Amino acid sequence: MTYLLALDQGTSSSRSIVFDAEGHIKAMAQLELPQMFPQPGWVEHDPMEIWRTQLATARQVLAEAGLKAGDIHAVGITNQRETTLVWNRRTGQPIHHAIVWQDRRAEPTCAQLRARGLADTIQQKTGLLIDAYFSGTKLKWLLDNVPQARDMAARGELAFGTVDSWLIWQLTGGRVHATDVTNAARTMLFNVHTNAWDAELLEALDIPPGLMPEVRPSSSHFGDIQPELLGQAIPIGGVAGDQQSALFGQACFKAGMAKNTYGTGCFMLMHTGNGFQTSHNGLITTSAAQTTTATEFALEGSVFVGGAVVQWLRDGLHAIQSSSEVQTLAQSVPDSGGVVMVPAFTGLGAPYWQPEARGTITGLTRGTTIAHIARAALESIAYQSAALLQAMSRDAVQAGAAPVAELRVDGGACVNDLLMQFQADLLGIPVIRPAVTETTALGAAFLAGLSTGVYASTEELSSLWRAERRFLPTLSPQRASGLMGEWERAVRQASLT
Ligand code: G3P
Repeated sequence: MTYLLALDQGTSSSRSIVFDAEGHIKAMAQLELPQMFPQPGWVEHDPMEIWRTQLATARQVLAEAGLKAGDIHAVGITNQRETTLVWNRRTGQPIHHAIVWQDRRAEPTCAQLRARGLADTIQQKTGLLIDAYFSGTKLKWLLDNVPQARDMAARGELAFGTVDSWLIWQLTGGRVHATDVTNAARTMLFNVHTNAWDAELLEALDIPPGLMPEVRPSSSHFGDIQPELLGQAIPIGGVAGDQQSALFGQACFKAGMAKNTYGTGCFMLMHTGNGFQTSHNGLITTSAAQTTTATEFALEGSVFVGGAVVQWLRDGLHAIQSSSEVQTLAQSVPDSGGVVMVPAFTGLGAPYWQPEARGTITGLTRGTTIAHIARAALESIAYQSAALLQAMSRDAVQAGAAPVAELRVDGGACVNDLLMQFQADLLGIPVIRPAVTETTALGAAFLAGLSTGVYASTEELSSLWRAERRFLPTLSPQRASGLMGEWERAVRQASLT
């Protein structure tokens, strides 16, 4: 039997999953990652904890699977994206905690970039909108604020990396300082047309080029894991940021194929083929996982509060004891009774970009119960995702392509049948849940298997992908667009608050 090991380093936990060559899960291990909030709006991780928990789960999963390192054909890495680390090349010691993607401290630098008129250049070169989300301005903050960092960087003593680079560095004993195109594309320093770091952008942010990792295709050899770590050397054959990895694990290899991951937030990506496409509908352009040096692209939109709205029902409103109760409560009423909830707790992201918007509940009557609110909360996840998909379809049509024909889903909340059915009803297209919903890790395993000869082609991977359930739309297009109209009305109110 051939096995592949996926290391999935996420925001809230480190996980390791062993897959067989057909993409079935053999074993899984997970450890929570402590979160640090040193100031309002700041989010940090301890880099050594990232590494310790990731390595521990890799060891644990091998033990649980009853396998030895020698049984693993190759390793794939997938990771929380944009999170920014800098370490000393000689000692391997981080110079600061990792600045997590959610951290907003670099906003003043973003404002300066906008004021310097760099928005168009940045969008054309990187596909991104200027935002503190991306790594570049976080890296500048580290260089500007950690004592001696600038001098050390100038002397070539420091290395920058996203979480994938940090793990590769650790796994190879400091021999390899590399990243893949999907992670590089999230830095706002990477030219996605040429697949290279962009000298003009590095200069604009005052970042010495010597800090940057080498960029490789997502499915390629990233070095070998040191034998002493897992018992034997194993090649690292694939690396991708978690959302692009999920797109790959969902076998969305062709233009127009889209996936949505329902986690704390939601991340929707649509493959757009080899050509760069600028969004005219509030989305960003990003590199999709690449199996060769040829460019591949996706459009991406994210919902800030997805599954987190269920956590709020539980921890804020105390309406439910555990997240799994939400479906039963929501299903105890036939519909939301006209209640619409916009969970803009931290503003609204794509396609609205309303940072000042705040959470709003509309349509309350004397007959409204907590069940209606629970239903509206669940439905808000689908409404926000529908707005993203509509934006993607508009972009596709404006580029002369067909609108999105089906949506593949994954992530924790995709187990919720009520939510998935409502999603299909709003979108008017099939929503498809795959047999293996651990698509982020599966994508990394596929990338590693492809570069090491387990798989011959992406066609072979497409044949391994299987649907578990298809949710077909049951509402008339008129009714669905009436509902979306109610949602958009509520969004306008949220934007006024
Ligand atoms: O862009 C951020 C994203 O990569 C984080 O994903 O699943 O770790 O929350 P996750």
